[in-house]
Amino acid sequence: MRNFVIVGHKATTEPNFSLEDIPGTSGRLDILCRSVTAAFVISHGIRKDVCVYLVLLGGDVTKTIRLQGETLRHLNPDERTTAALLKKALAVPATLEWAMSTSGIFVRTGGLAQVLDDLKAARLIYLREDGADIRELVPGALAEDAAFILGDHTGMTPEEETMISGAGAEVVSLGPTSLHADHCIVVMNWFLDIHA
Ligand SMILES: C[S@@+](CC[C@H](N)C(=O)[O-])C[C@H]1O[C@@H](n2cnc3c(N)ncnc32)[C@H](O)[C@@H]1O
Repeated sequence: MRNFVIVGHKATTEPNFSLEDIPGTSGRLDILCRSVTAAFVISHGIRKDVCVYLVLLGGDVTKTIRLQGETLRHLNPDERTTAALLKKALAVPATLEWAMSTSGIFVRTGGLAQVLDDLKAARLIYLREDGADIRELVPGALAEDAAFILGDHTGMTPEEETMISGAGAEVVSLGPTSLHADHCIVVMNWFLDIHA
């Protein structure tokens, strides 16, 4: 399973944002929508072996949305459709337990610490510009359950950095150029595909 975890520091936890102005009204949920597209959408289909965790920190109560490729339905390549699916998930009353919104989309309260705990059996890889060169990773070792952790336009806070390193994540770089999170996911999917 390929897991991608993206932390949205300003991303809203409420469904009352406008689909007409996603970046301006949702705390940059558009970044997370593009990350979802990059993780799942291939030509004429959806990757089944992918799971995405969106950590939403832009509300009174932190929420996480999980999208599971095996059962994911209604995902189209456009940002607006993805945002509409996330809007529905945010309208579901969230508790500490996962609650299903639409097929393959779940929501709960809690943030990065809980996600890292969920993924403790996976190989954790924190993608950061100054990490170890991705080409030095033994490709075969990536065939196992792996989780790739990414920041949004603001990167990660020092507290999150500590949490991630405390969870045992390796810090890995896709090169010195700072890329958008969704572009990093495309590159990671490509890397995993060619070494599968
Ligand atoms: C737009 S970048 C964040 C930019 C910058 N780090 C900052 O603090 O504003 C979003 C995320 O993509 C990932 N990322 C971007 N470029 C990368 C690279 N060259 N190698 C590995 N990860 C990268 C990191 O996880 C980063 O937090």
